[in-house]
Amino acid sequence: MINVIVARKQAEAEGIYSFELASEDGQPLPPFSAGAHIDVHLADGLVRQYSLCNSAAENHRYQIAVLREPSSRGGSQQMHDAVEEGQRLQISAPRNLFELDGQAQKSLLFAGGIGITPILCMAERLHHAGAAFELYYSARTRDRAAFVERLLASPFSDRVHLCFDDEQGLDAATVLANPPEGTHLYVCGPGGYMEYILGSGRAAGWPDERLHREYFSASPQVDATSEAFEIEIASSGEVLQVSAEQTIVDVLYDAGFEIPVSCEQGLCGTCVTRVIDGIPDHRDSFFTEAQRAANDQFTPCCSRAKSARLILDL
Ligand code: FES
Repeated sequence: MINVIVARKQAEAEGIYSFELASEDGQPLPPFSAGAHIDVHLADGLVRQYSLCNSAAENHRYQIAVLREPSSRGGSQQMHDAVEEGQRLQISAPRNLFELDGQAQKSLLFAGGIGITPILCMAERLHHAGAAFELYYSARTRDRAAFVERLLASPFSDRVHLCFDDEQGLDAATVLANPPEGTHLYVCGPGGYMEYILGSGRAAGWPDERLHREYFSASPQVDATSEAFEIEIASSGEVLQVSAEQTIVDVLYDAGFEIPVSCEQGLCGTCVTRVIDGIPDHRDSFFTEAQRAANDQFTPCCSRAKSARLILDL
């Protein structure tokens, strides 16, 4: 855990504040790479992940940006209403689940709304490295888009395409037609936007291994009904009942297995556990389609079972 001070809080767009976090003791912060995020520990035990959006070459601060989400479970409200300049916060060291591929000949970066945060950092990194890229930034309106001035003032502004729904929206099918060899696609944004970009990419023939994504918040599982099932601990044969109201992580915790968790929404991959037998009901946004289809690992913080029993490698 790292103790930081909120050195700056600034309104960036309608419903979006940025926060600059500096180490409490003035020591350099741990390094990070473009696409990394930190966990921010808030009151009431809430832990939220935010992508870093400052240059990865900096070590004196981390910058994050937070969209107020009315339907959130309280994290963004706390960040907007209760976190002020000068306040102490505890954060994790940066982790990166959304790395740039070092072999890419060109990168297409797609940001939807607040999903601009890791994408901005990636664009700055690619520019610094002299790599080829284009950045497509979609938002409903210009007022709701953070960091537009920073992008337009950047030395790579000619590679930035602003796609506001009320001006000129994005036609992903045209942009993604005929996937060039060696080009990788990175996307971050709300669930519907991500599905639009990834679906357009797949329809145009982009291979899965060149599609990279980071959800900034969980896709709501509104259709997901929950039923009871069993889990079996492979090492001991112990069988545990998971009721419709319980998560697997909670049941395991009560039985003495402490699975590390962070987001508890299927976003971060902290809780990933191997499955030896049975079919998980994957409810995460972390794995690729191919990884889910293999059914040999899952996220027990939010996923459940399609089969009557799951045997876990514990
Ligand atoms: Fe983040 Fe399970 S705790 S995916």
